[in-house]
Amino acid sequence: LRARPALPGVGLARTLRPGGRTARPRTFLMCPPTHFDVVYEINPWMDRTVPVDAARALAQWRALREAYERHGHTVHVIDPEPGLPDMVYAANGGVVVDGVALAARFLHAQRRAEGAAYARWFDAAARAGVLGPGGAALGQADEVDEGEGDLLLAGPLLLAGAGMRTTRAAHRELDRRLGLAARGVTLVTLDLVDPRYYHLDTALAVLDDGRDDGRDDAPPLIAYLPEAFAPKSRETLRDLFPDAILADAADAAAFGLNAVSDGLHVYLDAAATGMRAKVRERGFEPVGVEFDELRKGGGSVKCCTLTLRPALVEPVETTA
Ligand code: ARG
Repeated sequence: LRARPALPGVGLARTLRPGGRTARPRTFLMCPPTHFDVVYEINPWMDRTVPVDAARALAQWRALREAYERHGHTVHVIDPEPGLPDMVYAANGGVVVDGVALAARFLHAQRRAEGAAYARWFDAAARAGVLGPGGAALGQADEVDEGEGDLLLAGPLLLAGAGMRTTRAAHRELDRRLGLAARGVTLVTLDLVDPRYYHLDTALAVLDDGRDDGRDDAPPLIAYLPEAFAPKSRETLRDLFPDAILADAADAAAFGLNAVSDGLHVYLDAAATGMRAKVRERGFEPVGVEFDELRKGGGSVKCCTLTLRPALVEPVETTA
C-alpha cells in the first residue's frame, strides 16, 4: 500500500466533518433492459415463476440513467442483445482501471456471450477515445471474471470478490494484465460465503473513493455486510476500513449495498431505507431509485452501472 496517514484518526475526523463531501463527475456504461427477463435461475433471487413487467423495468432503468445525468454524470449506452436477459447488469461486463478495460468471462453458460459483447464495446470505445488518451481495450479475461460485479476500486485498493463467481486465478490475471502494481493499485481478495451475496457489489459498496478527489489524506470509505465474508476477509476489512459503515441483514437484503456513489450522492434502491439513513448520517445524500423490477434478476442500481475510468494522461510505460 502507498504510505498513508493512520486510517482511524483520519476516519474520525471525517465523521466529525459530515459537510465535507464532494460530488465528482463520473462516466458510466449502462445497458437498457430491452431483453430483460427471468428465464433461468443462477442466483437465489431469481424465480422464473414471477413475471417481469418489461415496460416497468425500462421505466425504472431510465429513471436511474436520468438521475445520473441530472447530477452531471456521463452515461454511455451499450446495445442490448436479444437472448441475453441479464445484459442489463452492465457492472458485470468488465472492469476499467486508468482507461484500461478488461471484459468479463462469465461463469454461467447463459451469460457467456455477454463477455464478447462488452469486449466489442470496449474496443470501439478505446478507438473512439472514450477511455481517454491512454485508453486501451485488452479483450476478454481468460479466467472466470465478472467485472465490477466482483471488482471495486477503493482508493489504492482493488477489492476483489472470490468464492462465488470471479476466481482467484482471475485476480492474478487482473493484477498482471492491468499492471496494477505499476499503477499503485493493490488487489485485495475477499472471500464471499453467502449465495445471496454472490457478487462483491451485493455485499460491499464504495462510498468515497478517496483517490481522485485531490485530498491525498482521504482514506476510502466503504459500507459492507460482515456476515457475507469469510472470517479472514472480515478481519481484512476491519483492518483496512475501521471507519466503514456496517450494514445489517435487512440493508443487504434490500440491496442497500448495491449502491453507486459520486462522492456526495449515493444512488441506491429506494427500498433500502436503512442504508439511506446510514449514508445520510455520514454526510452523503442518498438518491433512492425504485428498482423492484430489475431486482427480480438479483441485481439493483450498482449492478446496472459500470464505471468507466478514463485515463487522464498518456500512459507512462512502466512494465516490459
Ligand atoms: N442475474 C444476474 C446474475 O446472477 C444478476 C447480476 C447482478 N449483477 C451484479 N453486479 N451483482 O448473474
